[in-house]
Amino acid sequence: MTRWPEGVGGLCYGGDYNPEQWPRDVWLQDVRLMREAGVNLVTVGVFSWAWLEPEDGRFEFDWLDDVLDLLHGHGIRVDLATATAAPPPWFSRRHPESLPVDFQGRTLWPGSRQTFCPSSAAYRAGAVRLAESLAKRYAGHPALAMWHAHNEYGCHNGHCFCDASAEAFRAWLRRRYGDLDALNQAWGTAFWSQRYGDWDEVDPPRPAPTFVNPTKQLDWWRFSSNELLECFRAEREALARHTPSIPITTNLMAARFKTLDYWSWAPELDLIANDHYLIGEDPDGHIDLALAGDLCRSLAGGQPWLLMEHSTSAVNWQPRNLAKLPGQMRRNSLAHVARGADGVLFFQWRQSRAGSEKFHSAMVPHAGTRTKVWREVVSLGGELRRIAEVKGSRVDAEVALLWDWEAWWAVELDSHPSADLSYLELVRDHHAALWRRGVTADLAHPSADLERYRLVLAPSLYLVSDAAAANLRGFVEAGGSLLVQFFSGIVDQHDQVRLGGYPGAFRELLGIRVEELFPLPAGGRVRLDDGSTGSLWSELVHADGAEVLARYADGPVAGGPAVTRNGSAWYVSTRLAPADLGRLLARVCDHAGVAPVCGSAPPPGVEAVRRRDPGQGGRASWLFAINHGDEPAALEASGLELLTGAEVAGRLALPAGAVAIVREDGA
Ligand code: GAL
Repeated sequence: MTRWPEGVGGLCYGGDYNPEQWPRDVWLQDVRLMREAGVNLVTVGVFSWAWLEPEDGRFEFDWLDDVLDLLHGHGIRVDLATATAAPPPWFSRRHPESLPVDFQGRTLWPGSRQTFCPSSAAYRAGAVRLAESLAKRYAGHPALAMWHAHNEYGCHNGHCFCDASAEAFRAWLRRRYGDLDALNQAWGTAFWSQRYGDWDEVDPPRPAPTFVNPTKQLDWWRFSSNELLECFRAEREALARHTPSIPITTNLMAARFKTLDYWSWAPELDLIANDHYLIGEDPDGHIDLALAGDLCRSLAGGQPWLLMEHSTSAVNWQPRNLAKLPGQMRRNSLAHVARGADGVLFFQWRQSRAGSEKFHSAMVPHAGTRTKVWREVVSLGGELRRIAEVKGSRVDAEVALLWDWEAWWAVELDSHPSADLSYLELVRDHHAALWRRGVTADLAHPSADLERYRLVLAPSLYLVSDAAAANLRGFVEAGGSLLVQFFSGIVDQHDQVRLGGYPGAFRELLGIRVEELFPLPAGGRVRLDDGSTGSLWSELVHADGAEVLARYADGPVAGGPAVTRNGSAWYVSTRLAPADLGRLLARVCDHAGVAPVCGSAPPPGVEAVRRRDPGQGGRASWLFAINHGDEPAALEASGLELLTGAEVAGRLALPAGAVAIVREDGA
């Protein structure tokens, strides 16, 4: 159940505040400017360990007392970080065994951040001691609204291959399998003489002459995600001991981050908080943003979530860091709100003068306040106040797009039919097609309760447990529609193939049998007899009860079925070109009774999402319409446009780059 930062009225607005980088006179300017911008929540102390504990066991809180008092005096609430994401140099020197070791066996040295091994006992003890000291010190401080444990767990040190990690991996495997026979069975160690006779023989998947046992690799991903979750849990317990009523969260990196299984993390957080950065050169960056927003809302079980970080303009870590064009930051921010965020925060408040992130944009840029960025920051603060009534409302979605970190890890393991398969790309294909049609989707775990959806899409769900397969079968039997993409249902949770023809877990449901996989050469294309084009993949499919909707017109399986339908279970055996997938999904949506948000597909580049107030029997609703394109557009809508206060009667005009949020009439 989501817990919101204590005492923040309206939507949250603010960013990471790193006052230790600035002299005190700048702090006074900061709080004045924060008020001007309407900031009500800042994240303080994310990288302050060296300032809070300059020597082992010697804590210095006076400066932080002053910062918190100052913020409180100006009515700004604090998301207080535990500062554990960057152990200071003294710590690494004192505990050299806590340094992380990469896959190649190289030690990663201090002088950056996240220089620790997640399994290091010294690190965990140091982090808990710091978190606990902060909790004791600031329990009851009136500025404290929320705890921000660590920062982006696993961002740089998701997998550590040191000996302590090896020991922890063995302990985790013992708990998972109980005995070595079960492990040998699950890992299929009869292959290549890999049978283990003693737990001490089991190491992390370190470099080997050739492919390392795939189930071992898969378990390593599971272990690593859990190991960092243990770090979070340890901090959370320390914090909760002293401040049980203050919510605790950490910032996730959905949807691009592969390392952590956020489905297992989500129930442990009081609030889903996320960091999202546009890839500046991606022309569809706004669709990638929408995917992240949809995933966060889904991780939050449909409840509001918090955008903890994004950028006002350029970042510093891409090959070319493109500045945002006028209006783009506003569109990005409100697009997150459209998808369920009840707050918009940035990295960071004031642009750093020194360090690796000095060219990363911020709310207060190097050039000061006579700038596009500052004007947009102030204006956005005003707009968030104007639309505060959307707070707590939910987003309508009738479609679930399956998303599973375990399936992601497994499908991208080595020694597979094609190294070109990217799970994220395939999920994105489907999400983008829905986005363009104006259909909002939740993301869902394959074992989740799917009852409220009409349609479920399963992009290359390679690994599926028996329970998840039964869940999907039950969904279709209960009247739901399901679309499954190639290379799905292939293996069980141990990465062992389901025999008798692919897709083992879904053969009967789909009424097909795949005899052999025919991935395409790099850049290869196949034509289908309905005019569609496929890439990446093809399969020798036999219809076994299913109707054949399209056949391969050329390529290695010419004449064979490419797209099939068995009642309301659809199968697609290639990667359709975006327009072709769009057409197919439009047909599938129509069949499933899923309509676009505005009745028909919005004009190109226009995003349309509806939020609805669950409190009034769902009667109050808001239509968010964002024109990301260069052409003026219009949508059907009626009501009060909140940003301008204009009445909209039937037709909502959306100039290029515009955003409208309409409180709808008569719902
Ligand atoms: C995030 C991180 C921030 C900052 C930001 C830059 O990954 O949490 O501290 O580094 O990226 O984009």
